[in-house]
Amino acid sequence: MADAAALLSQIRINGAIPRHVAIIMDGNGRWARERLLPRPVGHRNGMKSVRTVVEAALEAGVEVLSLFAFSQENWQRPAVEVSALMSLLEEFIQREADELEQQGVQVHFLGELDRLAPAAAAAVDKVVAQTAAGSKLRLNLLVSYGSRAEIIRAVKSVAADAAAGRITPDQVDDALFSDKLFTVGCPDPDLLIRTSGEQRISNFMLWQLAYTELAISPVLWPDFGRKELYEAILDYQQRDRRFGRVQAQ
Ligand code: IPE
Ligand code: IPE
Ligand code: MG
Repeated sequence: MADAAALLSQIRINGAIPRHVAIIMDGNGRWARERLLPRPVGHRNGMKSVRTVVEAALEAGVEVLSLFAFSQENWQRPAVEVSALMSLLEEFIQREADELEQQGVQVHFLGELDRLAPAAAAAVDKVVAQTAAGSKLRLNLLVSYGSRAEIIRAVKSVAADAAAGRITPDQVDDALFSDKLFTVGCPDPDLLIRTSGEQRISNFMLWQLAYTELAISPVLWPDFGRKELYEAILDYQQRDRRFGRVQAQ
């Protein structure tokens, strides 16, 4: 089995680097359970994979990396788990902000951030401001994010624009609507990876995934690293993306 460096060389030779890679980072709880450890230990180990994958994406020349870290539905988990996840978020920002800035990573948080506790919200604002000039990789961290809520929010904004006479209903099109989503300014994901073998979307980027290539990895998120990311990209490079069309004869 080839190592990560060999896989990266092959990715470069193939050439078609996905501009936007999105990942549903799943399986932290199962990783911990397999080791008879509490779930938050799985989340802590998952944080290491985030660091690794950001670096791997930078090296491969991916422009946008979107990581689904915490869903709106995840607020319904037991309070101890939610608070452990929020503390880890703050810790991650504290620990990684300087390095992310140095590496040219521009960090964005996408989701209903007003639900975050004040300390977490302050940490988020700080890293976003600190990394605003980053131009190598845009890192979207989806926190308190749900795609249906995002779509409803966009619909409300479009309706308000129409009610106020700023637009007419005829002007509503794909581009106008996309600009109302949290992902404004990002190309749609080319590749979506879900770890831990689950074969569902779990309310993630429903609009944006219209023609995204899907990759389900059996690996649990804390075990997902450079090699797994590069394998998914290599597989993506073999796909025939047709967008509903046929090849010219
Ligand atoms: C993903 O791991 C992280 C979050 C959803 C916050 P899980 O916590 O969902 O892990 P499993 O799916 O229970 O193994
Ligand atoms: C999706 O994982 C959300 C994140 C990875 C943040 P879940 O573990 O919450 O999804 P389900 O419940 O298995 O669909
Ligand atoms: Mg899960």
